[in-house]
Amino acid sequence: MPFKTPIAAAAIVALGALTSFGAAAQGSGPIKVGLMLPFSGTYASLGHMIEDGFKLYVQEHGGKIGGRDIEYFKVDDESDPSKATDNVNKLIKRDKVDVLVGTVHSGVAMAMAKAANDSKTLLIIPNAGADAITGPMCSPNIVRSSFSNWQPGYAMGVVEGKKGVKKAMTVTWNYAAGAESVKGFTEGFEKNGGTVVKNLTLPFPNVEFQALLTEVAAQKPDVVYSFFAGGGAVKFVKDYAAAGLNKTIPLVGPGFLTDGTLEAQGAAAQGMLTTLHYADNLDTPRNNQFRKSFALAYKTNADVYAVQGYDAAQILAAGLNAVKGDLAKRDQLTTAMRNAVVDSPRGKFTISKAGNPVQDVYLRQVTGINNEFRGVAVKSLADPARGCKM
Ligand code: BEZ
Repeated sequence: MPFKTPIAAAAIVALGALTSFGAAAQGSGPIKVGLMLPFSGTYASLGHMIEDGFKLYVQEHGGKIGGRDIEYFKVDDESDPSKATDNVNKLIKRDKVDVLVGTVHSGVAMAMAKAANDSKTLLIIPNAGADAITGPMCSPNIVRSSFSNWQPGYAMGVVEGKKGVKKAMTVTWNYAAGAESVKGFTEGFEKNGGTVVKNLTLPFPNVEFQALLTEVAAQKPDVVYSFFAGGGAVKFVKDYAAAGLNKTIPLVGPGFLTDGTLEAQGAAAQGMLTTLHYADNLDTPRNNQFRKSFALAYKTNADVYAVQGYDAAQILAAGLNAVKGDLAKRDQLTTAMRNAVVDSPRGKFTISKAGNPVQDVYLRQVTGINNEFRGVAVKSLADPARGCKM
């Protein structure tokens, strides 16, 4: 069951999805956007927020990008990598979409990236941080509006190491996102004088944390770094506090641990420090305006996932505006997407050669139902893009 139900706007869901002109000509008719996101399971809330953020941007521009109407096609990927190839092919082969937008889960995104590359379909990734997608699998077809798993992990490692913290343990789901987030943390932490003494994992999306928490209590590290998100993050943070561990061993992580989750986590999350490329209370005209519009449209507060969805639409707009909506001008379109300076609610960011945001990573602290800005953890952080040959 989703832990937070954004009052998803029926008015927006209906947007553009009603008329189909069949296979659109490359320069006329609606652009077909395939949204492949989790609408069920532990990441369901993340998927809904991304969709809502994307559609908000399109609505703000009269339902059009690059002068063309937008027609949506949707698939619930259930955050299940074993179904990912079949699911993405529903959008590529059955619906013949012009552009794919998805997804949240790194394992599912890797299958999407392969299918997008094989079929030369444009892919904009509004969350999944799989390092490989902007590493060895990098391609002109693929741009990310979010982060690489390495980025917020590395930033938190730097923060804890610079504080003089010496001994860390990590706890995470055992799949690409958890492993790469821990790898980033370890790199930043050990470069700054710390040591990771033990890595604990459990399979995605399990939430039976008790044995792991018993192990943390026995080891008594100075800090615990964890990657969890969505429903799993809610339960982990609550279980950690219920075990009394938060009184003696600070729990830190990438911002996913406390983003979009705070109403459900309540007292258990108060005071927690995390690192991410967004903070709720960034007091800029851009963020204030975005949060106001989002709350008005959906009767819920925006979070990082909504920002990433909104920015996925902005990146697509940068490409389509440059070619006046003509998809046949593919090279010009992808170059414009990559050269965009994205005026995001998170702050302006650019896109690396490998297709990943180059962005400030903030240190945030939970206060009430907000992840509040406490400073810039690492400025203009670029993913190392190891293995990208572009
Ligand atoms: C991932 O699988 O890449 C991911 C999922 C949720 C939040 C952040 C990253």
